[in-house]
Amino acid sequence: MTIKQKMIEPFNAQIKSEFSASAQYIAIAAYFDDLSLKELAGFFYRQSEEEREHAMKFVRFMLETGAKPIIPSIPELRNQFDNPADAVQFALDQENKVTDEINSLVDLSISEGDHAANNFLQWFVFEQVEEVDTMTTLLQTIKLAGNNLLLVEDYVRRNPQDGGEDPAA
Ligand SMILES: [Fe+2]
Ligand SMILES: [Fe+2]
Repeated sequence: MTIKQKMIEPFNAQIKSEFSASAQYIAIAAYFDDLSLKELAGFFYRQSEEEREHAMKFVRFMLETGAKPIIPSIPELRNQFDNPADAVQFALDQENKVTDEINSLVDLSISEGDHAANNFLQWFVFEQVEEVDTMTTLLQTIKLAGNNLLLVEDYVRRNPQDGGEDPAA
């Protein structure tokens, strides 16, 4: 086993966090889909796929380093939102929380001298910079658009962001 013992429980906790984020983004996507805001819905469906892939990166890393990942249950999620800005603010809060979690994992990898885990986590460090930036910009765009959410739909259509389906990315 090359992973340091003390990393295992926090890594399992991160698998739960990433799968939870994935499911939460489906709930947010469904909220927008129900409002016929198809571009925003598509954005959050893509985000959900990304979060699932984040969880799978942790699953694969644990198996590669000799630890057995524990696939978690998903906690209760939020399915009701007051308005689009509320939904995106909630997504931004979630990304900020995950950023704190990743930073704590990096701290632990340093104190444990787990260089492989540290190297693995560096990808997530910058991924979180992008996630927080993307969500901050989307929230700001919604606020600027006011009541005209079709402007936001147009913005998302022209900026599919890090949804993974943009061939130019
Ligand atoms: Fe993530
Ligand atoms: Fe994320």
